[in-house]
Amino acid sequence: METIARLHLDTFELTLRDIKDVGPEQLHALSVSVGWPHRDTDWQMLLDLGQGLAAVDEIGRVVGTVMWLRYGPDFCMVCMLITLPRLQEQGAGRWLMERAHALNQGAVFGLTATKEAKRLYRALGYGHEQKILRCQGEVVSEARAPGTSIASGRVEGLVRPLLASDHDSLLRLDRAATGYDRSAALQALLTASQGYVLARNEEIVAYALCRPFGRGHVVGPVVAATEADAIAVSRPHVELHAGRFLRADTPACNTAFTNFLVASGMQIHDSVTSMGLGRAPFTPARPDGPRRIALASQAIG
Ligand SMILES: CC(C)(COP(=O)(O)OP(=O)(O)OC[C@H]1O[C@@H](n2cnc3c(N)ncnc32)[C@H](O)[C@@H]1OP(=O)(O)O)[C@@H](O)C(=O)NCCC(=O)NCCS
Repeated sequence: METIARLHLDTFELTLRDIKDVGPEQLHALSVSVGWPHRDTDWQMLLDLGQGLAAVDEIGRVVGTVMWLRYGPDFCMVCMLITLPRLQEQGAGRWLMERAHALNQGAVFGLTATKEAKRLYRALGYGHEQKILRCQGEVVSEARAPGTSIASGRVEGLVRPLLASDHDSLLRLDRAATGYDRSAALQALLTASQGYVLARNEEIVAYALCRPFGRGHVVGPVVAATEADAIAVSRPHVELHAGRFLRADTPACNTAFTNFLVASGMQIHDSVTSMGLGRAPFTPARPDGPRRIALASQAIG
């Protein structure tokens, strides 16, 4: 019996809807289809913080998404650009990006690009590239990591758990590190996270948050002026999660911080690229001042 047969079914008509009007389970199914680890709660945080579009087919199935978060009046962080694998390389990704740009005219755009998406973003004019390493794995506490040495240089000051009264200091540090008022995003992250701060001369000079995300927990954002300070505020999170899955996304220039993550049991899993349209997306207020040592997530930046 002849069993080999082919049927070409490639005619799709897509319409756009407000992403908040489609079922969250459909969004989750879409991100799973491209191998992304996001949980329902990870999507929900983005839906609470931002806006976006869902491309749906004739019978209402979500086959593509794009979202954006506004930081301040004129910066737009684009994220969650996904098209269903069977639909890829037919122009849907570019179409969603162009709609996102059109709906945010006049804004400066930034994003974190996967390898698959980089060519599309370059074609749309994005540049100012910065390599970001995604480090993840089951972590070990310092004492249980035989043959490894976690950079353990002592830093001046006191590392302690974050208090509600520290929130203004965190906002100030975040603004100095990114150039934007991300208070809404930070507020949502604070609600979902545990945090540690480094206090020096009665001033908060660094912080690291950690929250459930994807397959385990993510350490981020981490904001500090030096990698040593960043390691000091991140170490308690590593120790608290010994034996569990932890992730951190850090600009590749942070070699001491990356070494600390690797010595803690995480591996460099892959890399993505921070990109900006027209200018660098995140610019610290001072070159030697606080900067992003780990991202809140690839979507949030
Ligand atoms: C990235 C993604 C959204 C692109 O969607 P798409 O529907 O294929 O996009 P388009 O058809 O508009 O293609 C846009 C460009 O990217 C290129 N492209 C698409 N998939 C590619 C791939 N896997 N590798 C290299 N280039 C690719 C296309 O050839 C096209 O280039 P061209 O305009 O020079 O011909 C899609 O591949 C995807 O969902 N990937 C998984 C999730 C992801 O990585 N999202 C990006 C988040 S930053």
